Amino acid sequence: MAGKWEEIDQYARQWIKEAGRRIRASFAEQLTVEAKENRNDLVTNVDRGIEQFFAEHIRRQFPSHHVLGEEGFGDELAALDGIVWVIDPIDGTMNFIHQQRHFAVSVGIFEDGAGQLGYVYDVVFDELYSAQKGRGLFFNGKPLDRLQPVPIAESIIAVNATWLMENRRIDHRPLVRLAKEARGTRSYGSAALELAYVAAGRLDAYISPRLSPWDFAGGMILIEEAGGVVTNLDGEPLDLLSRNSVLAAKPGVHGEILQRYLQQ
Ligand code: IPD
Ligand code: CA
Ligand code: CA
Ligand code: CA
Repeated sequence: MAGKWEEIDQYARQWIKEAGRRIRASFAEQLTVEAKENRNDLVTNVDRGIEQFFAEHIRRQFPSHHVLGEEGFGDELAALDGIVWVIDPIDGTMNFIHQQRHFAVSVGIFEDGAGQLGYVYDVVFDELYSAQKGRGLFFNGKPLDRLQPVPIAESIIAVNATWLMENRRIDHRPLVRLAKEARGTRSYGSAALELAYVAAGRLDAYISPRLSPWDFAGGMILIEEAGGVVTNLDGEPLDLLSRNSVLAAKPGVHGEILQRYLQQ
């Protein structure tokens, strides 16, 4: 009989692929778009429908598991005991609405707070990044190489332009210096995809001062399995029960950004 994690992995993949089919099918339909906390914080009927799809299937198949999700179909969790699925049904909703690309389904599955299975699915490209603890990172089923250090001068850093301008969350000046000293900067508008790109070595680091657990849960597991490092901007472990700042990077690059830029 397949092990516990193999069984969970099979269901997770099946549901993620089905979510992708539903999202692609929604392109032909009229979207209902609403604003949440502010006029640019958007949600659609598809975001909600996909999270509900996951929550219902998980509860039916694995009644003891818990669900943490963005759109309110999950559980109110005060602790991370047992098995918890952390789900972002569509990460990059703004891209989904405006561009019909550059968004992803993100799923991280944890046991007693430890990441066990991670997935980021680029729905439009049909590209699945996946990892199981201790087994490395896979891209559409093919193993990827472990990440190696690179100099900052040869690095591509993913950071949103908001954080390179004066803002109310962080001192932007160290990040401006980092952006100048790096080879280049990118911003794709989906934290989950950007984390998957770090895991796959397409980006060398990703920085955000404020993400929710569903934004980073899947990608964090991918990066750790690829040999990269994920912490908050103070170098501390991320907390899955609250908002966090995030610094995700290749080994070496992570320490250098912390020491030479953020802790100055
Ligand atoms: C957002 C995306 C975006 C990040 C925002 C997130 P959503 O998630 O990941 O890249 O900058 O902070 O809220 O709302 O599209 O799932
Ligand atoms: Ca959102
Ligand atoms: Ca998100
Ligand atoms: Ca979302």
